[in-house]
Amino acid sequence: MVNEIGQEKEFWDRVRAEFMLDPQLSFFNTGTLGAMPRRVFERTVHHLRLTAEKIAEWDYYGADWISGYQPWTEIREKIARLLNCQVKEIALTENATAGMNYIANGLDLQPGDEVLGTDQEHPGGESGWKLAAERRGVIYRQLALSKPVKSPEEVIEIFVRARGPKTRVVTIPHLVTGSGAILPVREICAEARKHGVFTVIDGAQTVGHIKVDVKDLGCDAYYGSFHKWLCAPAGNGFLYLSTEKAPQVWTTLASTQWDNQEDHGFRLSQRGTGNLSLLMGLDEALDFHFELGPERIYSRIKQLGDYLRIRLQEVPGIKIFTPLHPQQAAGITVYNIEGLTGNFIQDELWKRAKIRPRSMGEVYGVRQSTHIYNSPEEIDRTIEVLKTLAASR
Ligand SMILES: Cc1ncc(COP(=O)(O)O)c(C=O)c1O
Repeated sequence: MVNEIGQEKEFWDRVRAEFMLDPQLSFFNTGTLGAMPRRVFERTVHHLRLTAEKIAEWDYYGADWISGYQPWTEIREKIARLLNCQVKEIALTENATAGMNYIANGLDLQPGDEVLGTDQEHPGGESGWKLAAERRGVIYRQLALSKPVKSPEEVIEIFVRARGPKTRVVTIPHLVTGSGAILPVREICAEARKHGVFTVIDGAQTVGHIKVDVKDLGCDAYYGSFHKWLCAPAGNGFLYLSTEKAPQVWTTLASTQWDNQEDHGFRLSQRGTGNLSLLMGLDEALDFHFELGPERIYSRIKQLGDYLRIRLQEVPGIKIFTPLHPQQAAGITVYNIEGLTGNFIQDELWKRAKIRPRSMGEVYGVRQSTHIYNSPEEIDRTIEVLKTLAASR
């Protein structure tokens, strides 16, 4: 990776040029919000302009000029292809948070029913369950995982041991936001399924980043956001809900299709008038992803992440909170330098080299997300700054 030369480098330089990012700045916070390729931005803006200028031409006979009421089957088909499921198993949501709430609120859980999660959730992965606990007497238990997670076996064992007669739901992130660890979702879902436990996976950090095959994972529900790793405009997400389990989930946001039992994805996409321009941007981002090639993208992201983790180990006092096992991490790396804080490292990387990771606070340092618009040279520059910071402690 260090000696990336020739065609490979040229190719990724061309890909980078498809983004509107300022070439002088190194953007490493895809874990919060990805950068949009120019064509995604242009498609979004084109539609927004059309709506502003030509709205009088909308005669209501043909396609809608807003989202929120139509099934948008062609777009959902692309998402279904990405996740390997049926189109009717896909709902369009605003983001991952909406997907989480639709399941936590929609399942008919009774007081005393137990939901198992982890202690490493994002608020957008846990808050709906906390609400269910407060309002409906559901027991929401967050199982402690190590940081970094030691092995997939350790996590599986924690969930196997925790399950009891009242366990109804297991809800875990596929890729942990605060450490970058990839959790053994398939094994945990298989175990839950044997006992009739509903499984719901938080995929906010996975789609566009690592391969997601919901059928292979065997989960009942899976939700995520497209504005991070898929590089769509903010305000685009999805909820996968298996046909088999869909009847168990009530509609939360009810509008005209609220009781559509033929197309559950459509039923759960109801949100009233929405911004179709954003959906057009998502459509373009999906095309961009497929044209560039999902496997090629995942492999580049992972190579860069692995390279960062290898090089970080040269920095004195480094503490890496992301698993170093190659199967357990991809494009998110969380690290600190002993004696420093996340805010300090974030600010110094910006001041000294215009490098933008994201602070994770006092203990966990910074999170650096590597995407296809990043390069090994940007990682080399990061390491140089970190070494200087480590030396001046
Ligand atoms: C694991 C995880 N879950 C949920 C969310 C919430 O995503 P959104 O704000 O797009 O709903 C995030 C956002 O960073 C996340 O990392």
